[in-house]
Amino acid sequence: MRPNFLLMFLTISLLTVIQSFAASPLKIRSVNLGGWLVIEGWMKMSLFDAILENRDLLDGTQIELKSVNLGTYVCAEDGGGQKMVVDRQMASGWETFKLWRVSSTKFQLRVFNNNFVSAANQSGVDSTKDTPGEWETFEILRNPNNPKLVHIKAYSGMYLQAKDENQLTADYNGEPGWDNNSAVFEMSNRAPFHGEFQLANAFGTSSAAQVVFANHRNNFVTAKDFEFLAANGINTVRIPVGWWIAYDPSPPKPFVGGSLQALDNAFTWAGSNNINVIIDLHAAPGSQNPWEHSANRDGVSTWSKKENIDTTLEVIDFLASRYSRHPALLGIELLNEAQKEDVSLDVLETYYKQGYERVRKYSSTAYVIMSQRIGADPIELVNTLNGSTNVVLDVHYYNAYTPTFDDKSVQWHVDYINNERRTSIANLENAGNALIFVGEWSNQINVTGASNEDFARYATAQLTVYKEASFGWSFWSIRNEDQSNLHWDFERSVQTGQLQRGAIN
Ligand SMILES: *[C@@H]1O[C@H](CO)[C@@H](O)[C@H](O)[C@H]1NC(C)=O
Ligand SMILES: *[C@@H]1O[C@H](CO)[C@@H](O)[C@H](O)[C@H]1NC(C)=O
Ligand SMILES: *[C@@H]1O[C@H](CO)[C@@H](O)[C@H](O)[C@H]1NC(C)=O
Ligand SMILES: *[C@@H]1O[C@H](CO)[C@@H](O)[C@H](O)[C@H]1NC(C)=O
Repeated sequence: MRPNFLLMFLTISLLTVIQSFAASPLKIRSVNLGGWLVIEGWMKMSLFDAILENRDLLDGTQIELKSVNLGTYVCAEDGGGQKMVVDRQMASGWETFKLWRVSSTKFQLRVFNNNFVSAANQSGVDSTKDTPGEWETFEILRNPNNPKLVHIKAYSGMYLQAKDENQLTADYNGEPGWDNNSAVFEMSNRAPFHGEFQLANAFGTSSAAQVVFANHRNNFVTAKDFEFLAANGINTVRIPVGWWIAYDPSPPKPFVGGSLQALDNAFTWAGSNNINVIIDLHAAPGSQNPWEHSANRDGVSTWSKKENIDTTLEVIDFLASRYSRHPALLGIELLNEAQKEDVSLDVLETYYKQGYERVRKYSSTAYVIMSQRIGADPIELVNTLNGSTNVVLDVHYYNAYTPTFDDKSVQWHVDYINNERRTSIANLENAGNALIFVGEWSNQINVTGASNEDFARYATAQLTVYKEASFGWSFWSIRNEDQSNLHWDFERSVQTGQLQRGAIN
C-alpha cells in the first residue's frame, strides 16, 4: 500500500466514524424526576397532611350548594353573567362552583363561564364579575357536627340566604343557627386538584409552606437516586420544573422559593454520575392544560394569552442562560403537554420557534424539545422547526386514560406496543426532521390478575420498541409513594424485576 493511499484510506475511515457519530445522537435511556419540583399529589399525597384546616377545600375544589330550606340547588343563571338563583332540582355545570382559596376559611366562587359570584348587591347576588375582590369573597362556616352543612358569610357581615328560589340574596342578618333555615346550605365538594398551586396556597401567610416544600425538595429525590439510576443503565434524567423557578428565591405568590437550588443540586449529582439532564418546563404561567401537573389553580387554562407566553419565553431564556455551559445539560423542553382545546397549533408553533431562538442564544448544541399537544396527532409538529438543528419531538405513550385500553389482555397490550406504537414512531421519524423521543411512559395497564412476569413482558416490549425512537425514551417516574402505584415507580419496578436491566440497555 503506497503511503498516500494509506493516508486517504485513514481519512475516509475517520470521516465515516465522525459522520456516524453526527448522524446518530446519544440514545436516551431516561427516568423522569416527576412530582419533585412540580408537585403531583397522586404521587405523594402525604404532602397535604400538613394542611390542618379545610384540607378538602383547596383551590379548584368543585362545590355544589343545596338549600336545606328549599331543597333546590344554587345556580348561576345562563352559566354566569346573570343573577344567582336557587331553583334547580339537580346539579350540573351551572350549579358547580370552583373555589379560589383566600385563606383557610375565606373563598371566592368561580362559576361555569369563569365569572365570580358577587354579593355587591345584597338583594341580588349575581355572577357578573371577571375578577374577584372583597365583595366576591365569602367565609364558609361549617357546622362542627356535620361539615356538609354550611353558612356563607358575605363581606357585609350578612349571610347568603335562599328565601326566594328566583334570587339568591346576601341579607340574612344575625347568626343563622343550624335549624332548617334559609341561610343553611348542604355543600358537596369534589377536589380534582392536588398540585403545586393547591399545596403552596393552602398555608396562607404562615411559614408552614416553606417547611413542607423544603422537606420535600431535600428528600423526595437525592444524590443516591442518581447513583441508583447510573447503576441501572440510565444515562439521562428529565426534570419537570415550574415557571416560578426563574424567580427564585422570591417567586410570585403562592409559589415557594427553593426549587432552583434543588435543580442546581440535580445538575451536580448528574455530573458526578455521568448522567445528562433534560429540563422540562412542565408548568407554564396561566397553565397550558387543565391538570394539576401544570400547576393549574382550578382547571382553567390561560397560557395562550400573550403576556403568559412572553413570561414563558423569559423563563426559557433564564434556564438556557443559567445551564447552557453546564456539561450535564442535554436539552430544554419548551413546554410539556399543551392541551388541544386550550392551545391552538398556530400559537404553539409560534412559541416553539421563539423558544428555539431563546435556547440558541446561549447554546448551539443543546437539544430543543417540543412536546405533542394532548388530543392532537403529534405529526402536526414534526416540521415546526424544520430549518433547525438538534430538534426533538416528545410523545407520551400511556396505555391508559381512554376506553380503548379497558378490558384487554396483557398480550393485547404487548401487541399494541409491537404494532401500533412501533408504526407511530416510524411514521413520525419519516415525516420530518425532528428526532423522536418517547418522553413519558409507564408500566401501568388496566388488567386484573396480571402477574409479575406479565408486567415484565409488557415492560420489555415497551423498552424494545421505544429504543427504536431516534432520541430514545424516558420512564415516568422515578418514584411514587402510593404503594398501589408500583407500575409508575422506576425504583420499585427495577427491584421487582418488572423493568429488567438487560432490557433497559
Ligand atoms: C325544611 O323546611 C321546608 C319548608 O320550609 C320543608 O319543605 C323541608 O322539608 C324542610 N327540610 C327538612 C330537612 O326539614
Ligand atoms: C339589586 O338586585 C335586585 C334584585 O335582583 C334588583 O332588583 C336591583 O335592581 C339590583 N340593584 C342594583 C343597584 O343593581
Ligand atoms: C418546513 O415546513 C413548511 C410547512 O410545514 C414548509 O412549507 C417548508 O417547505 C418546510 N421547509 C423545509 C426546509 O423543509
Ligand atoms: C379499568 O377498566 C374498567 C373496565 O374493565 C373500567 O371500568 C375502569 O374505569 C378502568 N380503570 C381505569 C383506572 O382506567
